[in-house]
Parts: sequence; C-alpha cells; structure tokens
Amino acid sequence: MQKREQWGSKIGFIMAAAGSAVGLGNIWKFPFTAGQNGGGAFVFIYLIFIVLVGFSVMLTEFALGRRRQLAAVGAFKSEDRRWTFVGIVGVLCGFLIMGFYPVVGGWALAYIFKVVAGLLNNPETIGSSFDAFITNPGIPIIWMIIYLVINIAIVSRGISSGIERAGKILMPLLLIILIGIAVKGLTLPNSFEGVKFLFKPDFSAVDGKVVLAALGQAFFSLSLGMGCMITYGSYLSKEENLVGNTGFITAMDTVVALLAGLAMFPAMFSFGIEPTAGPGLVFVVVPILFAEMGGAGNTLATLFFIALTVAALTSSVSLLEVVVAYFIDEREFSRKKATVTASTIMAILCIFSSLSFGGIGPKLFGKGAFDIFDLLTDKIFLAIGGMMICLFAGWKIGKEELLKEITNEGTLSYSFLNIWFFLIKYIVPVTVAIVAVNGILDGFH
Ligand code: PFF
Repeated sequence: MQKREQWGSKIGFIMAAAGSAVGLGNIWKFPFTAGQNGGGAFVFIYLIFIVLVGFSVMLTEFALGRRRQLAAVGAFKSEDRRWTFVGIVGVLCGFLIMGFYPVVGGWALAYIFKVVAGLLNNPETIGSSFDAFITNPGIPIIWMIIYLVINIAIVSRGISSGIERAGKILMPLLLIILIGIAVKGLTLPNSFEGVKFLFKPDFSAVDGKVVLAALGQAFFSLSLGMGCMITYGSYLSKEENLVGNTGFITAMDTVVALLAGLAMFPAMFSFGIEPTAGPGLVFVVVPILFAEMGGAGNTLATLFFIALTVAALTSSVSLLEVVVAYFIDEREFSRKKATVTASTIMAILCIFSSLSFGGIGPKLFGKGAFDIFDLLTDKIFLAIGGMMICLFAGWKIGKEELLKEITNEGTLSYSFLNIWFFLIKYIVPVTVAIVAVNGILDGFH
C-alpha cells in the first residue's frame, strides 16, 4: 500500500479544513436562509446547534478519519462492513451537493468579471440583471464549467500541494474583506434595524421548519454529516491536537457566517430591500452597497467576488475530494482518473440545476433540480448522516477507543470529553431525529 499523503504543515491542515467549512454556505446561504426564516430566532437556534451538535460531530469525524487513516467509506468499512452504507451515503451526498454548488460558484466567478465590466454603473438594474443572468440557459453553464475545471486542477494535484496552498493564501484575505464590508454597512443610515433583525430573537414565528433549517445550516456550513471531515482527518498526523483544531474551525466558520450577516442585513435595511429576497441576496445587495460608495466601490466589489469565489473553491474541492478519495481508496482509480470521472458526473447534475432557474427540466413536487439537490442534502442527508456517524462512534467504536484517538494516546487531557461522549451517544442522535421528523411534518420551505 502507498504511504498515505499527509498535510504538509499544521497551519495547512487548519486552513484547508476551515476552508472547507467556510464557503458559499456562510456567505451566500446563511444570510438568505436567516432572512427567510425570520432572522434572530433562527440565528439563535443555529448558534446553539453549532455549539452542541456541530462541534461534537466535527470532533467525532476527525477522530474517526485519523484513527483508520481512511476516507469516508473506508473508515466505516474497515471497522464493520455493515456500516459501509454510511460512507456510501456520504459519497452520494458529495455528488448531490456538487450538483448545485458549482452553479453558484460559477455565478461568483462571473460576478468578478461583471463588476469589472461596469455592473455598478447602473445600480437600478443590478437586481434585474441578476435574474436575467441566472435564468439564461447557456451563460451560467459556461461559468459553472470554468469553475469546475479550476476544482479539477486543484484536486488532481493531490492533497497537500493543491488544496493546502489555495487555503493558506486566500482565507485571510476573505476575512479582511468581509470585515471591511460589515463596517461600511454599519455606517449607513437605519442600519441598526438590520443588526436587530439578525440578533434579536422573536420566537413567536419559530416552527419545525425553522428549527430544521437551522440544523441543516449548521451541518452544511461546518461540512459535516457526509464524511468530508472524516476524509480530511484521515490525512492528519497523529501528533495533531484534534480538540484545538475542531474549536478553531468551528469558531472561524461561525464568525464568518455572522460577519456575512452583518455585511448584508444592515445595508439591506438601509436600502429597503426585503430580508426574504432569497438566493440572489449577496449578488444583489453587495453590488448595490458598493455602487453607493462610488470610486473605491468597484475595486472593493471586485475583491469581494474574488474572495467569495475562493471561499467557494476551498469548499468545493473538499466535496470533490470526498468522492475522489472514494474512487482512489475503494476503486483503485488513479487520482487523475478519479477527479475527471467524478467531475464529469457533477457537471451533468449542475447543468440540470442551472437550467432549473430558467424553468427548464424535470420537476419534483413543483421544485426544480437545484432546489431538490439543496433540499435533499442540507435538510435530510447531512443531518441523518451526522446522526449515523454519532451512532457509529458512540455505540460501535465506543468511548475508550475514541478517547485514545482524541487524547493522542493519553498525552492530552480534557475534562469535557465525558460530556462530548454523552452528546454524541445520546443527545445528537435523538435531537436530529426529532428535528428532522418535525421539520418534515411541517413541510419544507
Ligand atoms: N461547508 C461548505 C460551505 O459552507 O459552503 C459546504 C460543504 C463543504 C458542505 C463540504 C459539506 C461538505 F462536506
């Protein structure tokens, strides 16, 4: 057997794993999902899930991956063949998320060029030009393919040189730009209404759908429930501190989501844009915000969409990596062949997703391909996957073995690990089951 590739450095792993977590989920999805689910109460519930569920599941995934040094499917299969399906569902989930994610990645890429070409010159048409763009049957598909090709280029080079280098350089840039936008938004008149919308919970509007949306968002945003962090953990050296890494990545992801909210809602309230505006939010609000600024606005908007594209890339390469690692580990494909095979299938799914914005293609329950892939993954597969991962770790692997991995054979010690184990063995599975059933009974959005 080949020696398993490992991350080139400690900072490389953190940046790549944080890069996987921080992506369109934080900057594109979090704000519009919060907007559609009533704001403050959604954010509050989301934060509780991040702390109680997200952190615990991430630690579990890292431990499972590093323990066997095998990616999603192998990590289950090598322990007990009957659990292989959990890994397989994760790989399928990777395909499905990559069936819509690159469409939005392509939008972000296109917007870099749209801004340079003068998008901000006519602020009144920014909204309508976004609608015209995404419903076009051809152009967004071309951008999606360019976006996927960049993913192929990164993933086919292998773990440490490609993914790691991209994450190391570009993540800090993203953070700085977001802080700048948030500060600008907060100085606008009436912007405090946006802060209130985001942070003042109104629980009267909370129902099963809102709670499920918050749980799904927590899993999606932290890249959990489909074996992505198991796969990344499998490349991690035995000396690394799993608890510290998990804490840092969870915190970073949450900060970026909240910053994205702060970058958008104050400006929206100031401009009188509805918080329920939907998936176009970041592609409409941010350009309008920058258009207001005149001169420097163009440069800043360009930088923003570069950062958004990069954040999307460091996440989608991790999704692609889950599928690629499966083909390499389980099907003995070369890395190149695995990457090209996986991305070809993803490109086909994405064509359906992109066309669905123009009303073209098959529908299920009145929803097009894009919405179906999104709904299936973020509202069902990831949460259920996270539950299965916890059941597997808590009941099959057991406390002693997991603690050995997490404490690096007893060289580290943490008093909260008893609580963590109780959470993954009982609380997380029961919570996911209740929230999923309630949300589904209430009907999806
Ligand atoms: N966490 C990514 C984001 O927030 O955009 C999306 C994602 C990546 C989900 C990897 C799941 C995953 F395995």
